[in-house]
Parts: sequence; C-alpha cells; structure tokens
Amino acid sequence: MRRLSHTAAKTGAGTRRAAAKAGARTRPAATKAGAPARHRDHEIAVDSRETVGAAIERCACALRRARVHFGHGTDNARDEAAELVFFAAGIRHELGRSAYSKKLAARQVDLIDGLLERRSVERLPLAYLTHRAFFAGLELYVDERVLVPRSPIAELALQRFQPWVTARRVRRILDIGTGSGAIAAACAMAFPRGRVDAVDVSAAALQVARRNVRRLGLEKRVRVLLSNYFDAVKGCRYDIIVSNPPYVGRAEIAKLPREYRHEPRIGLASGADGLDSVRAIFAAARRHLEPDGILVVEVGNTEDTLMRVFPKLPFIWPEIAMGGGGVFLLRARDLDAARD
Ligand SMILES: C[S@@+](CC[C@H](N)C(=O)[O-])C[C@H]1O[C@@H](n2cnc3c(N)ncnc32)[C@H](O)[C@@H]1O
Repeated sequence: MRRLSHTAAKTGAGTRRAAAKAGARTRPAATKAGAPARHRDHEIAVDSRETVGAAIERCACALRRARVHFGHGTDNARDEAAELVFFAAGIRHELGRSAYSKKLAARQVDLIDGLLERRSVERLPLAYLTHRAFFAGLELYVDERVLVPRSPIAELALQRFQPWVTARRVRRILDIGTGSGAIAAACAMAFPRGRVDAVDVSAAALQVARRNVRRLGLEKRVRVLLSNYFDAVKGCRYDIIVSNPPYVGRAEIAKLPREYRHEPRIGLASGADGLDSVRAIFAAARRHLEPDGILVVEVGNTEDTLMRVFPKLPFIWPEIAMGGGGVFLLRARDLDAARD
C-alpha cells in the first residue's frame, strides 16, 4: 500500500536536477551548510545548500540505480526518497511540496547519505532504518521484530468495514497475527467504542505491538496477547475477525527480493502452498464470530490458490482504492462451507 504520495510532485530542484540524474552528490564537497559559497565569476553570494526537493530527486535516482525493491510502504523511488528526506530533515509529510524549497543543514544531508547507503547496500527496508511506518493515518514504531505494516486492510479499517457491518454495533474485534499492532490500532481508532484483542505467536513482535498501543493511548481498549491463533481467546466472540497472516508459499519464499529477508520469517512463510495459516483460521473462526460477524483476511497473491482450494466459499474481494489487494471477506454464516 502506498502511504505517501510525492510522485507527481515538482521538486524545485532546478539546475541540480541534471547532476542528480547523473547520480552526483549535489552538495558541493567544499561547502559547509550554512556558509554561503562565493560564485567565482560574479562574486555573488550563492547559498549552495541542497534543498529538500533536490535531495528527494537525488535519492530517487540513487534508489533506482541501486535497483532496490519497493514494497514496504511505498511502491516507487520518488515516494520512498521523500520519506527518507522528510525523516532526515524532521519534516512532517503534511507539509508536502511546500517543504521542497527548504534548505537542508549539513548534518541532515549526512544523515540522508547514511540512510541511502544502508538502504541501497544492505537492502534494509527503509522503515527499519527510520523506525517508523505510517498506517491508516497512524505513525507506528517498527523494527526487525515485526513485519513492516503495509496491509491494504488499512483502507477497509478506515472505512469501518462498510458496508459489511453495522458500525455502531461493532463492539469486539480480533486481530490475528498483529505484528506491530498496526491493524489492531487502526480498528480501535475506527471504532472508538470497540475493544480489540491483538494476538500474535511471536513474543518479540508483541513487545513492539505493546509499545505502539501505549504510544497511541489505546491501552484501555486494545489487549495484546501471546497466542497461537485463537488459543488465548477461547470462548470469546467477535463482530470482526481480521488478519494479515503469513501467506507466502515455499517456492515463492525462496524468490523474494532481499528486503524481505530482513523481516521475521514467521510473518511470511505459511507452508507449502502459503495457506497453512488461512486453514488454521478457517478451522476456528466460525465459533469465534457473532452470527452477523465477518472475517477479513489478507492473502495477497495467494488469492488464486485460495480459490482453487476452497471453491465453495463465497469470497468477497473488496476494491482497494489505495492500491494492493488480495483481501477477502466472508460472513460468519458462509464459513460453514470451509469445512466441506
Ligand atoms: C504478515 S505478518 C502481519 C503483521 C501485521 N498484522 C501487519 O499487517 O503488519 C503476520 C504475523 O502473524 C504472526 N503469526 C504467525 N504465525 C502465527 C500464529 N500461529 N498465531 C498467531 N500469530 C501468528 C507473525 O508473528 C506475524 O507477526
């Protein structure tokens, strides 16, 4: 899912654009930030510090040249470069293009260069370098204990899962495989009177989830539980069960770009055909759902396999405007067919 949109932006990079395209570092090596350089020919003071826009352009070129993989919150070089530069410069994304003409300090350019190098060489997802990710309008802390949140379920949560539930009646939500707590937090925000159980089998991931729940002031409504699927919530029933479980099949795991190898394998791998976690969820979801409850699960490009394996299930595939897909929805009553 794209979290940022700087793609259509003009950078204001001016004459530096050509140099940036060529991959040159646009900050003249001899110029210290804050110290206007003297233009030799005309003896006119010129402030040669790099602008935010120029830095974005330069980083986008460098990311394209390094052939990094985009898929951890952005889907293109420009948006990823914008996040990198805005982070390093301490600028909020709400400012958007109005910040592009701002001049960067030397230490900010150094930080940008360091991030760019690690992103390109180590192939670390940018969110693990900045320790932040944006999800459903929330800023979350992330590190390598959790998958970088990017599920298209964010959009459905923002829309309060309309038209599939009566929003004012939603009281209890379960997020299976909560990781950073992103989906659980988005649901808690979407349903201010709702209570959310956020479960994960990874104790390390839950440390991150707890941190995010605390940061967002959701401790009273989001319960973070160590649990293998439904084990810790026996006897509980929910209006919505939501999950972005692991769903990558064995053959596909081996082919994933290097960036994914930094993510916890437990967050990705799900048996030979990628459907082990979905099978486990189907096995118990019905008895944990209210009669008019819904199950919402991301399966990404395992969608085709899923429909082949469960041909009788009347999957609903909501349109996701922000990009991404592979999220299905089932009503409680329809889950009986999963047992056939
Ligand atoms: C694809 S990640 C999703 C994380 C988060 N929900 C998100 O969207 O960013 C899948 C999560 O499922 C968790 N998980 C894997 N097996 C599980 C199991 N048996 N029971 C509960 N959680 C599990 C992993 O630890 C991981 O955090």
